[in-house]
Amino acid sequence: MNKLDFGLFLPNTSGITVFGAEPFPQNVPTFAYNKSVLQTAEAGGFDFALSQVKWRGFGGETHHWNYSLEAFSLVSALAACTSRMQLYASVAIRTVHPAVIAKMATTIDDISGGRFGVNIVSGWNKVEYDQFGLWDEDAYYNYRYKYAEEYMGVLNALWSEESATYQGKFFHVKDAEMLPKPSRRLPIVCAGQSDEAIEFISKYADYAFVGRMKDDVDALASLSDKIKEAAGEHGREVGSLVLMTVIAEDTDEAAIAKRDAFIANADDAAIRGWMGFQVNDTHKQGITYDSTPTLQKVFMGLHLVCGSYETVAAHMDALAERGVKGVCLSFPDYMADLPRFIAKVLPHCKSYQPVH
Ligand SMILES: Cc1cc2nc3c(=O)[nH]c(=O)nc-3n(C[C@H](O)[C@H](O)[C@H](O)COP(=O)(O)O)c2cc1C
Repeated sequence: MNKLDFGLFLPNTSGITVFGAEPFPQNVPTFAYNKSVLQTAEAGGFDFALSQVKWRGFGGETHHWNYSLEAFSLVSALAACTSRMQLYASVAIRTVHPAVIAKMATTIDDISGGRFGVNIVSGWNKVEYDQFGLWDEDAYYNYRYKYAEEYMGVLNALWSEESATYQGKFFHVKDAEMLPKPSRRLPIVCAGQSDEAIEFISKYADYAFVGRMKDDVDALASLSDKIKEAAGEHGREVGSLVLMTVIAEDTDEAAIAKRDAFIANADDAAIRGWMGFQVNDTHKQGITYDSTPTLQKVFMGLHLVCGSYETVAAHMDALAERGVKGVCLSFPDYMADLPRFIAKVLPHCKSYQPVH
């Protein structure tokens, strides 16, 4: 059985990946809460954690994603409270010059003792950036991965060259200094799903985040193979990590009942807010509230695994068997669900081979 890397999708946004109407007490993210769940994950043998970056939420009574902690500053502090896990922070590249990120990443590499990497978010959601005057022209959406390529060009130059020079369309760096250099080549992840994103990932990323609700194990394995093949054309290796929400209970029936309770109590106003934003994504045009299945709406269109501890473990093993590199897990209620996942699901996973 292949080893699967187990990751935690840090709860740094309110609501995380479920549009539930009854927010948990820790719905508003804090450092203490993120530290507590991350330390639980590290003690439980998880391999990595990722903090997303968000600048605007979707409203509703749960204020879904309206509250968020900034990814780099959060992960910087979390790095000092952990000792083994790989940590990733997301940067919305439209919002910050790559020289600042190069320096911040090098600093967190030092704080973490060489456990840090960067998630490149090209930015698809005009509303998030337009509110700050950072989306000056709608054309940005079409060239966002060209912009991302140049962003990587600057990061790589600053991280590796004594005197960095980079001349692009968007960035001009001349004889620039940056010391210290990171302790290792910092791993890059990217979560884009489009063809342009896969092209970018194949050239620059070490890991690709994948996983939509409609993807089953076969679809995820094919996508993982497609990304491996695209990277192979550039002489590179890229592992796929599936972002998924987990609902694991004693029995399949109990898990389905829990899932259905979220559906019955969903925050419809927040869902409508979220769907209103999707019109900015040209890949999703034509998708309407009425044409989207309820399950997909309540769980944000992301991959969902729902079943008994054994069913969930078998799903993880099936992904590992098919060559998926890892999973990045989100839970409706991290405080209760994560320790239970560690105690009850992981022992059934043959693909769980912790490096303590
Ligand atoms: C694991 C994971 C993490 C993501 N993190 C972020 C994030 O931090 N901020 C964000 O705006 N989008 C995030 N996204 C969305 C993607 O970065 C990407 O922009 C989106 O899927 C659209 O893909 P495209 O740019 O190829 O069209 C994430 C997606 C996944 C699967």
